[in-house]
Amino acid sequence: MQLTGVKNNSKPWKLALIALSLLVTITAALEDVPTLPQDILRDPKFRAATTGNTIAGRYIVEFDEKYSGTSSDFLERLTQDINRDDPNIGNKLSMTISHEYDSTPSIFHGVSLSIQPKKRKAVLGKVQTASEENVVFTASQNRVVNKLVKSNYVKKVYPVTIIPRPEFTRTSLAYDEALLPIINSAALEVSLPFSHEMTQVNRVHKELGLTGKGVVVGIIDSGIDYTHPSLGGGFGPGFKVQFGADLSGDFFDVNNPSKSKKGKTPLDTCSEKFHQGGHGTHVAGIIAAQDTRYNFTGVAPDVTLGMWRVFGCQGSTSSDLVINALILAYEAGCDVINLSLGGATGWGEDPTAVVANRIAKSGVVVVAAAGNAGSEGPFMVASPSVADNVISVASVDNDYVLLPNVILENGDKFDYSLSTSTKTFPNGTIVAYADDEPEVLACGDSKPSRSFTGQIVLVKRGNCTFDEKTANAYKAGATAVLVYDNELNTSSHPVTAQNARIPVASVSNAAGVTLMGLLGNETSGVGVVFEVELSGSPSLSARKISSFSSVGTSFELDLKPNLAGVGGSIFSLLPVTRGSYGVLSGTSMASPYVAGAIALYLQAHPAHNSSFIGQKFQNFALPSFVDNPAKQGAGLIQVYDAITQLSYVSPGQLSFNDTAHREEKTLAITNQEKEPMTYTIRHFSNRAIAPFNTSQHGYTPIQPAIYTKANVTADLGLSLKNVTVQPGETVEFTVNVDSVSESLDNEPFPMYGGFITIDPVTDYYGEAKSMKIPYVGISGNVADIPIFPKGFPMIVDSSDFLGSHEPGKPYVLKRIPHSRPSLYAVFRLLMGTAHLTTEILDENQEFVGNAFSTSYMPRNTLNPGNFLVVNSWNGSIIDEQSETLGETIPLKNGTYYMRWKALRLLADPELEDSWLTSISDPIVVS
Ligand SMILES: *[C@@H]1O[C@H](CO)[C@@H](O)[C@H](O)[C@H]1NC(C)=O
Ligand SMILES: *[C@@H]1O[C@H](CO)[C@@H](O)[C@H](O)[C@H]1NC(C)=O
Ligand SMILES: *[C@@H]1O[C@H](CO)[C@@H](O)[C@H](O)[C@H]1NC(C)=O
Ligand SMILES: *[C@@H]1O[C@H](CO)[C@@H](O)[C@H](O)[C@H]1NC(C)=O
Ligand SMILES: *[C@@H]1O[C@H](CO)[C@@H](O)[C@H](O)[C@H]1NC(C)=O
Ligand SMILES: *[C@@H]1O[C@H](CO)[C@@H](O)[C@H](O)[C@H]1NC(C)=O
Ligand SMILES: *[C@@H]1O[C@H](CO)[C@@H](O)[C@H](O)[C@H]1NC(C)=O
Repeated sequence: MQLTGVKNNSKPWKLALIALSLLVTITAALEDVPTLPQDILRDPKFRAATTGNTIAGRYIVEFDEKYSGTSSDFLERLTQDINRDDPNIGNKLSMTISHEYDSTPSIFHGVSLSIQPKKRKAVLGKVQTASEENVVFTASQNRVVNKLVKSNYVKKVYPVTIIPRPEFTRTSLAYDEALLPIINSAALEVSLPFSHEMTQVNRVHKELGLTGKGVVVGIIDSGIDYTHPSLGGGFGPGFKVQFGADLSGDFFDVNNPSKSKKGKTPLDTCSEKFHQGGHGTHVAGIIAAQDTRYNFTGVAPDVTLGMWRVFGCQGSTSSDLVINALILAYEAGCDVINLSLGGATGWGEDPTAVVANRIAKSGVVVVAAAGNAGSEGPFMVASPSVADNVISVASVDNDYVLLPNVILENGDKFDYSLSTSTKTFPNGTIVAYADDEPEVLACGDSKPSRSFTGQIVLVKRGNCTFDEKTANAYKAGATAVLVYDNELNTSSHPVTAQNARIPVASVSNAAGVTLMGLLGNETSGVGVVFEVELSGSPSLSARKISSFSSVGTSFELDLKPNLAGVGGSIFSLLPVTRGSYGVLSGTSMASPYVAGAIALYLQAHPAHNSSFIGQKFQNFALPSFVDNPAKQGAGLIQVYDAITQLSYVSPGQLSFNDTAHREEKTLAITNQEKEPMTYTIRHFSNRAIAPFNTSQHGYTPIQPAIYTKANVTADLGLSLKNVTVQPGETVEFTVNVDSVSESLDNEPFPMYGGFITIDPVTDYYGEAKSMKIPYVGISGNVADIPIFPKGFPMIVDSSDFLGSHEPGKPYVLKRIPHSRPSLYAVFRLLMGTAHLTTEILDENQEFVGNAFSTSYMPRNTLNPGNFLVVNSWNGSIIDEQSETLGETIPLKNGTYYMRWKALRLLADPELEDSWLTSISDPIVVS
């Protein structure tokens, strides 16, 4: 997660932003997104991915169960089948296999297939332009895909997608020996990494003596520095890190995966200059560090680790490589697999989710990060964590932060964070940029109240980027900039100021207010000393859901995330070349925390299966009573209770879906104690999330997620209120949503939620704990939520960009040989949609054909990089006829319309009114 100076929570999207973002997106989208014929997309064997993140010409092919051929048999057979239809196709494209997927027992049998154009000249025997070549190639490639989905030896075909590198926030980093933390444990009464008290991990270590011994935890990540003394110092049999492989190499490029040279082991060899490096080592340390230097351990210090490296030193990875890693980890016999990675989708149809789900169903516990899109509002849980049987992990903030201190002239101490691009911060005198807002924000052309040669300048966070603030202070002579937060009650957030020429650091609002008071109208400034050692201090946001943690539900209204781990401000290991230790924040840190806890559980109960374990952790988790389950799942894991409590309730969570699909649910209490147990069953409500505020932002989801103003709660009907369960017996009861209280008119579709609690009344040993089942639901029919905002989809003429298009006036598409088409269909999706199609209509508005089509689209956000989806149109339709399937047909000159159709959430695609439609102004094609 990157924090910027702008708080966008109350910002309606403005025309200027759209224009800017259109320009950025269209420029970036000039490389066309590959499109596929409608009937391939509709074929149940084809699982389309979202546009924007697919890699052209690469597919994951799953073989039919009955097919027993090898991958080369498959390739031979496919080539024959294609040649039979078109003997020349071999001249146009070449097919290679990038990964073979096979495992015993079988989880996923298939290949990753790459279909690439052959050399330019061979295609039509003449030199072609890139776009002509692309048309021919795309058509040929579509034929292959069509052949694949029609073949009886193929079960499913998925496009390969890009999975972004996980982002995390570096709160502090030990660059060299001098910066290593000095921890005042006596004062804090807690030891590093500060998180093992709040999760009962300390208790499990001490009272149960569990350390994860004998349990194998697989990690799919950026590699590991196993030379770190706290990770065993080596690789292979006899070492802590026993399994794994380097699947990516240092220079992995998703578009050219075979180019990077792979290492013999998953060692992270990246140098310090890579800003987002060391991720996998940090994750591994959270699970399994055994550190003598600072006397701390990971959650399960005696586990055996496996690391399958899927990220190079920079950039993204691809879904076919992650699937490769998942299968290797499964085959190596991992008991738990951790994926601190994913893309924000909200749909479980992505192939990494499909494979992770099957591995989880087979009994291996698969744990994945919920994602760091917390600032982007609801429906943003990442895949693969969104898959049904994968445990999706939210993050809560640690009890303590480990940061350096700044000491003011009056002796007050506050913690500070260096900006992500700053290594050291000078001591000296500090002055305020101005005495009051708005000038102290240092935005735009605001003038400093004084000149600052040689001084540190204090500015306030908000209203513009940190880069802008820093540039303003720099112009006035500042040597460094200290930013104080505009939000109360948070510790200092690290800030991002990529282009700053001077050091930048940040402090809390409380520190800023104290400094402002101290400075008064002092022009000579006051002295400040920035200590370099890190020290622990109580966190102002301890045990709260981290602001970056992604918010559910899925678009199919499953309750995600499922559980929370500690992911805000986590001290762990970094590669030795990067300082050996550091504090990072992200759901990437919370996920391995939970994976380590599950390893402790498995040491105690090796025979328990994955869904039972997930449920047990949910039953005994500690919810934060202020937060909706769509942010925290069942709450923060309580490992001792999950391991030692004998009774349980299943399922571990409930979703009441939307109003149209609301159903009665059944819960089952099983008593595994030796005595009869009597329970009292109750429920309590959390606050409801308001996805929209229609009076301010229409149906643009609110970023970040906020709670409804009205107290929107469900009235639950429980068929039992008191129950006695005999030893070894199970008693069922039903739960109904009898009614949901009204929301304000401008806050439709509230996402209500809460917990059903089952409290033991009789307790022979005084140890039985209360069990909790989180529930969520949406009030209203989600099919009624609009998907297209006002003005979208729209057509943009790139040759007349921002030229004033008069409503009703035709657009003009001139097809000029050898040049790119200039018309773009521009989408902005307020909500995800399972299907998005652009149809072409003739001048009488009769259907002619389809221009493009995609499935399982996530929603767009207010972030410029994810504001829009753009498709260019060259005046052709996709030929759906079987003979020439896959070709596009250029339309005759004439007048046409685009008709855009998006499938409403949870709606039946067979019914006409399940589709939201919109028709464009006429387009004159010539
Ligand atoms: C190391 O930490 C443990 C608890 O985590 C504590 O009991 C022990 O005293 C510590 N040892 C040293 C040398 O600090
Ligand atoms: C600032 O002063 C502290 C305390 O004396 C010292 O440790 C630190 O190195 C100084 N910082 C710089 C950049 O010189
Ligand atoms: C800064 O932003 C806040 C909230 O977005 C707003 O209330 C305030 O008026 C803005 N201040 C300036 C100087 O623009
Ligand atoms: C500084 O502030 C004091 C009161 O706080 C005021 O009397 C004085 O005039 C101010 N000086 C300047 C130069 O603004
Ligand atoms: C909600 O209902 C839809 C339609 O029946 C279904 O597809 C979906 O899986 C349901 N979601 C949950 C969480 O039960
Ligand atoms: C909200 O409603 C619930 C159920 O009616 C009630 O228990 C709770 O106290 C209410 N909360 C507030 C803040 O009014
Ligand atoms: C039954 O449940 C109520 C709360 O719903 C509780 O106050 C009462 O003590 C319970 N009765 C018995 C016999 O456990």
